[in-house]
Amino acid sequence: MTQALLPGHPHVHYRDQTLFVDHVSAADLASQFGTPLFVYSKAAMLSALAAYQRGFAGRKAQICYAMKANSSLAVLQVFAQAGCGFDIVSGGELARVQAAGGDLSKVIFSGVGKTRAEMREALELGIGCFNVESEAELEVLNDVALSVQRQAPVSIRVNPNVDPKTHPYISTGLKGNKFGVAHDRAVQTYQHAAALPGLRVVGIDCHIGSQITQVDPYLDAMDRILDLVEAIEAAGVPIHHIDFGGGLGINYNGDTPPEADALWARLLAKLDARGFGDRQLMIEPGRSLVGNAGLCLTEVLYLKPGEQKNFCIVDAAMNDLPRPAMYEAFHHIVPVQQSAAAPTLYDVVGPVCESGDWIGRERALAAQPGDTLAVLSAGAYCMSMSSNYNTRGRLAEVLVDDQGPHLIRRRETAQDTFALENLLPA
Ligand code: LLP
Repeated sequence: MTQALLPGHPHVHYRDQTLFVDHVSAADLASQFGTPLFVYSKAAMLSALAAYQRGFAGRKAQICYAMKANSSLAVLQVFAQAGCGFDIVSGGELARVQAAGGDLSKVIFSGVGKTRAEMREALELGIGCFNVESEAELEVLNDVALSVQRQAPVSIRVNPNVDPKTHPYISTGLKGNKFGVAHDRAVQTYQHAAALPGLRVVGIDCHIGSQITQVDPYLDAMDRILDLVEAIEAAGVPIHHIDFGGGLGINYNGDTPPEADALWARLLAKLDARGFGDRQLMIEPGRSLVGNAGLCLTEVLYLKPGEQKNFCIVDAAMNDLPRPAMYEAFHHIVPVQQSAAAPTLYDVVGPVCESGDWIGRERALAAQPGDTLAVLSAGAYCMSMSSNYNTRGRLAEVLVDDQGPHLIRRRETAQDTFALENLLPA
């Protein structure tokens, strides 16, 4: 009998008492590739993408995967082959798109701190659009574009001042955030951009936050942006595309975000009602395409019962799974092999020398040393945010497709972690 772990996510499930990622047993993956290990389901990624594609059927829309969520080359390859463009935030991410065979004309470049070198390179490679985040950046981009005799396609990120009702560290569209140009300066900024010879205004964009689970903030942001498009066009600057950013949340712990197609049915109805239905649309989803397509397998090293708490010490840590330490984020932790033994409450922690190194608190587990656990919803902002803290090599990654598991990144050795370092002369 198969049993899905999260409603609507059939790719990670128990078959009898054993955890599977699609048709591959998680226990087999742990013994073949070792732990800790990231495992991704290609089918789960494509099914998350399909929800957006259904939502946009018959529309002019480009999905640009926000690769900061998970920038592993094979993951990019999956999305590139499925027709996605990419939302990038650094020259490093641009190099990854090239290495993965992505279409550079479908790349949009976001971020508040693009350097001149990054701008020059992106211009020379012919990316689709720069999402400019400040008036100062417009001047520098104009300058760089003129110096390489190009015109930079630009969209201005406007801060719609909408509360996305998510964690403060991941809300980005409020007045107090560092992102975007203030709503009330937008028209002026567009007029200025249109007058700069090195720039070609092509669009407008916004991104109000991440892990958004409600529709209303999106509807509000859309109204604010459409008001601006009307005002900017009335001031004589045509806007070809509208980019509504990313931010759609996933189910980590009973969260109930709308499905991408349901969200877009609501948003497209508003666009149609306001007469913008046949405008070119862009979106920049990250987490919702990969988050629930991935998990992290980790071995139980020690059980440490205590007076106040019991600790379950595993071989993955905050450097591999930084979200709990950074945002107090919740990830389900489940056994790879279910057992009938009575569970105990444990704080699941890693080997790193910090009290902040926890992965889950007060989890009921019937774990024994040597067992493998799976940390769920680990496809987004885990590997891409991981580090070598405590000289821990970053994890191996496996992607499961119809043919079986593929090692898409080998485990880092200690030598890898210090390969760029030099000793002082003797
Ligand atoms: N576009 C822009 C301009 C962004 O800043 C982001 C994310 C996205 C798109 C993609 O948002 P998504 O669809 O993934 O929500 N590390 C945090 C999340 C930070 C998100 C930053 N910006 C976490 O682990 O929750």
